[in-house]
Amino acid sequence: MLDRHCHIIYGLDDGAMDLNESIEMLHAAKNAGVTAIVATPHVCNKTFDFQLAKARKEEIGNHAKELGIELLLGAEVHWNALAKIPLDSIAQYCMENTNEILIEFNLHGTLPDDMTHRIYDLQRQGLTIIIAHPERYEFVKKTPAIALDWLEMGCLLQLDANSLLAPLYSATRKSAFAMLKQDMYTYYASDAHKADDYTRFSRATAWIKNNYRDSIA
Ligand SMILES: [Fe+2]
Repeated sequence: MLDRHCHIIYGLDDGAMDLNESIEMLHAAKNAGVTAIVATPHVCNKTFDFQLAKARKEEIGNHAKELGIELLLGAEVHWNALAKIPLDSIAQYCMENTNEILIEFNLHGTLPDDMTHRIYDLQRQGLTIIIAHPERYEFVKKTPAIALDWLEMGCLLQLDANSLLAPLYSATRKSAFAMLKQDMYTYYASDAHKADDYTRFSRATAWIKNNYRDSIA
């Protein structure tokens, strides 16, 4: 199983803090049945250190290989950072060997005014937009049709495993289940920041397999 969203590269964001923690996460991922991981460090400004990310991806990738896990590099680019990155250099933030770029918004913010225009700009660069955890955004919980608009624009939606385990009757959980029932998600991922998150990922994965389809990747 491929985990497309994970903060396993140490020292770059609020995920793993050091190499030991990255390795712990690898072991937890293996126990959860993960065979490939896309490392998606947060990109919150244009000064993201690609050289460091690539070097650490290689370092952690060697440990991953020993466990039979393939490690790929991607990013989770914040919407506000996108405006600061020249359009013709955005492709470097895509998941390795693809044209897919993972984008996140402020969880508690409002829908950006220029969203539609800028998504089309990115798509004109040949990028496929993956929206990270749409069920977690306040503006989607209030106005679920926004997620349908994303689909109509050709964006793909990625479910966060943690959302399925959110407290019963919480807005995040309701939003996630509503979108699952409407078959709106293309992807499913852990968004793991620490080893324990893979225990939750296992529980959520078992639930999805028992209750929904296998085609959600
Ligand atoms: Fe994330």
